[in-house]
Amino acid sequence: MGRAHVEFIQAQVLPWQAAPASLNRPGVEAKILSQDSVSGACTAILRYPSGFQGDAGFLTADEEFFVIDGGLEIGDWACGTHTYGFLPAHHPRGPMRSVRGAAVLTFFEAAPVAQRGTSAKAFDARKLVAPFDSYVAPWGEPLGDKLLRSTVKYKWLRQDPDNGEQTWISSAPPGYRHEGFESPMETHPYVEEMFMLAGELCGNTGRMTPGAYFWRPPGIRHGPYETRLGNFCFFRFKGGPITIDWSADKIRYTFDAPYRPALPPDFREHVANPADSVALY
Ligand SMILES: [Fe+2]
Repeated sequence: MGRAHVEFIQAQVLPWQAAPASLNRPGVEAKILSQDSVSGACTAILRYPSGFQGDAGFLTADEEFFVIDGGLEIGDWACGTHTYGFLPAHHPRGPMRSVRGAAVLTFFEAAPVAQRGTSAKAFDARKLVAPFDSYVAPWGEPLGDKLLRSTVKYKWLRQDPDNGEQTWISSAPPGYRHEGFESPMETHPYVEEMFMLAGELCGNTGRMTPGAYFWRPPGIRHGPYETRLGNFCFFRFKGGPITIDWSADKIRYTFDAPYRPALPPDFREHVANPADSVALY
């Protein structure tokens, strides 16, 4: 049935579990943030222990990733904190290694199965984004949307060559809000997914802080959003490029809406028993 609506959860409250054996990354733990029950596609934070070593080979699924802490090597690629990459299924990869450990926000587009050697299938070279340091990547063009002011900055990380879906980092400055605390709400025709790296984002389902995550299916009204502290967030749109439909009506709002999450049943249990942690994940 695809992925459930997850909006929003602080990753800190979720438990670590062993990464799937099919991934063949010994000692790696995972926090599963969302998962497709049919395809096995998932979003997870993977935690690599210091001294981690993995085999060369390839994966049968696309792997998109963003290093949120520590560092990782994939063959000759040195992936430090805030390195971003997209490795298509069947892309050959050198051995993986982490000297001091790493936490990596990771997106698999199908159940990930690691295999040794070289794949008999060609990888889709159009989709490859060789890992690069997003710190040094320039801020890109602002959205042309009339209601999102140009003060929000974007680093465009990827656009799919087939359906145009996008991955980016955005940053809103402190004090970002709509005039008179009043704004239309938004909906999107595609999935919107977000992991908060820093700051805060206040919206109709509560106040997100670093480690907040949502997977929002298409067609769900949300917002408006504002922030006193500013923020730095990792976003994906799935199925198509960022597209915003604004409601005809305006909503009054505050910075302090109560937490009203929409979560699958197994997540509700963790919300009721939050982890005692202020770490990012
Ligand atoms: Fe949105």
